[in-house]
Amino acid sequence: MSEVFAIIGGSGFDMSTCGDYVEENSVETPYGACSAPLQIYRHQKQSVIFLPRHGNPHRIPPHRINYRANIWALQKIGCSKIIAINTVGGIGADASVGALVIPEQIIDYTYGREHTFSDCADVPLLHVDFTSPFSAPLRHALITAAAAIGIPTIDQGVYGATQGPRLESAAEINRLQRDGCDIVGMTAMPEAALARELNIEYASLCLVVNLAAGRGEAITVAQMQKVSARGMGAIAKIIAEVLASNTTPVN
Ligand code: HPA
Repeated sequence: MSEVFAIIGGSGFDMSTCGDYVEENSVETPYGACSAPLQIYRHQKQSVIFLPRHGNPHRIPPHRINYRANIWALQKIGCSKIIAINTVGGIGADASVGALVIPEQIIDYTYGREHTFSDCADVPLLHVDFTSPFSAPLRHALITAAAAIGIPTIDQGVYGATQGPRLESAAEINRLQRDGCDIVGMTAMPEAALARELNIEYASLCLVVNLAAGRGEAITVAQMQKVSARGMGAIAKIIAEVLASNTTPVN
C-alpha cells in the first residue's frame, strides 16, 4: 500500500530544506478552514505534505488552532503518517535546552478545544485505543534516522499538553513533574488523538526551547525563538533522513 507523509510544523520550520515545493492545495473541510493551505513538496519520488500549524504567517495561538480541520484535510488528501514538530519546555533534568525528544506518552491538560470527530449522533461513536498515543513504527523511524546521521535524541518521555497561550506557573510545572511529565508544550493535543481517530500514524519530534517555569532563568520569547531557529536545522535533517529511508511504495 502506498503511503504519504505529512509534516505539521510549529514555529520556524523551513520545509524547503526537506524537499522541493510543488503546489498548494486548499482542502475544504466540514470543520472549517485549516491553519493554512496544504503545501505539497516532493522528496525524491515521494510527495510530502507540509502544514504550518500556526498559519502562514504564524498567527494562530495554540488554543485557536483548528486541529480537526487540519487532521481531516490531511486524511482527505491521502496522508497516512504525520510527523509533528513541537517546541517544548524541558521539565526533567535530561530535557535541557536544545535537546530533541521523541516522546512516547502524553498527558492532556488542555480544555475547551474541539478534541474529537465523534461529537454528534450522526457519526459513529469512537472510543479509540490511546494506550500508546504515538505510533511505535513512526517513533522508531525517527529514532533510527537521527542515529543514522549522528544527531542525538532522547527516545522516550512524557509530553504534558497545556492550554496556553500563557506559559505555566512554577507550581503547575511541579504538578506536571509529579504526574510524570518530562516536557511541556501546547500543541500535541488534541492533534495526536484526532490523528488516532482517523487512523493516521502520528509521532512527535520535540525541540526543547526553554527550561519550564521555575526550572531556570525567566523564559523569554526571544530566547525561545533563538533556540528554535538553531534547532530546526537538525529537525529538517532527521525528517529528510526518514523520508530517504522510507522503503515502502510511494505515491
Ligand atoms: N510551556 C508550554 N509550552 C511551551 C513551552 C513551555 O515552557 N516552551 C515551548 N512551548
